Amino acid sequence: MKTVIEDELFLKAYLQDRQKIVEEALERYLPGENKTPADIYKAVRYSVFNGGKRIRPILCLAAADAVGGDLGPAIPVACALELIHSYSLIHDDLPAMDNDDFRRGKPTCHKVFGEDIAILAGDALLTEAFVLLSRTEKVRLSAEKRIAVIQEIAQAAGIDGMVGGQALDVLSEKFASDEKILREIHRRKTGALIAAAVRSGAIISNASKEKINALAEYGINVGLAFQIADDILNVEGDRELMGKETGSDAARGKLTYPSLMGLEKAKEKLAKYIDAAEVSLSDFDERARPLISIARYVMERKS
Ligand code: IPE
Ligand code: IPE
Ligand code: MG
Ligand code: MG
Repeated sequence: MKTVIEDELFLKAYLQDRQKIVEEALERYLPGENKTPADIYKAVRYSVFNGGKRIRPILCLAAADAVGGDLGPAIPVACALELIHSYSLIHDDLPAMDNDDFRRGKPTCHKVFGEDIAILAGDALLTEAFVLLSRTEKVRLSAEKRIAVIQEIAQAAGIDGMVGGQALDVLSEKFASDEKILREIHRRKTGALIAAAVRSGAIISNASKEKINALAEYGINVGLAFQIADDILNVEGDRELMGKETGSDAARGKLTYPSLMGLEKAKEKLAKYIDAAEVSLSDFDERARPLISIARYVMERKS
C-alpha cells in the first residue's frame, strides 16, 4: 500500500516529465513566428504555449505506458490531440460562444489578435493536427494503425463528438434540463477527445482488444469526470489558480451538474465516475499507476 504522499510525489514527477516531453515536441512541430502573415503564426503559438496542463497528451502517453508501448510513435499523436484541444478553447472563448476574456491566465486569443485571426488560428490548429498525424516521418506507424488513429481522433473531434457537444452546449436551453442530456453534452464536448486520447495511446502500442476496451472504459469515465470537475471549479474554484473566469456558468444560466443537482450531488457523481475509471483498470499491472493517479488528480484538481 502506497501512502498518499508517495502517490502525490509519483504523480507530480510523472506529470512534470510528460509535460516536458510534450512541450518540447510541440515546439518542434509548430511553425515559428517568422512567417507571413505573422499574426496567424503568433496567434497559434500564443494559444498553444500558455501553460496548459496537457492532460490529453499525457493521457495518451500514459495509456501507451500502461500497455508497455513505445513512447516514440505516441508523442506526435499526443501533440496532435493538444493542438485540437487548443483550437477548441480558442473557439469556445469567442464572443459568439462563451465570450470569455481569460484563458490559462492570459487574455483570450481574440482579445489579443481579434476575432478574425482567432477563428483562423483555431482552424489552423485543427488542420495542422491532421497534417502532423499524416506525416510519415513524424508518426512512425503502419498505414493501418495510422488510419485507425486518425479516424479515432477525427470522430472524437467531429460532429458526433466535440463539435456536436459544443452545439448541444450552446443550444442547451432548447432541451429539457435533465441528466440524460447533460451527460450527452459532457460526453461529446469533453469526454470524446479524452477517451480518444486514451484509446489512441493503446492502439499505437498494439494493445489487445480487451486492454483497448478496458482503457476505453477508463477514458469515457475520466472524460465525463473531467467536465464535472470543470463545472464544480467554475462555482467554487480559485480564479487565479485556474487562469480563467469563475461564476460564468451560473451567470449565463448554463446547464451543468452543479446547476442541475447542486454541488454536493455533483461531487458524488464525479467520485462515481472516477471509481468506475479505476475499476476498469483492475486487470492492469503497476504500469497503469500513472492512469490511476491521473484519475484521482482529475477529481482533486484545483486548476
Ligand atoms: C478546459 O480544459 C476545457 C474543458 C474541456 C473542460 P483543460 O482544463 O484541460 O484546460 P488546459 O488545457 O489545462 O488549459
Ligand atoms: C469547453 O467547455 C469544452 C470545449 C472547449 C470543447 P467549457 O466552456 O465548459 O470550458 P471552459 O470552462 O471554458 O474551460
Ligand atoms: Mg463552453
Ligand atoms: Mg468555455
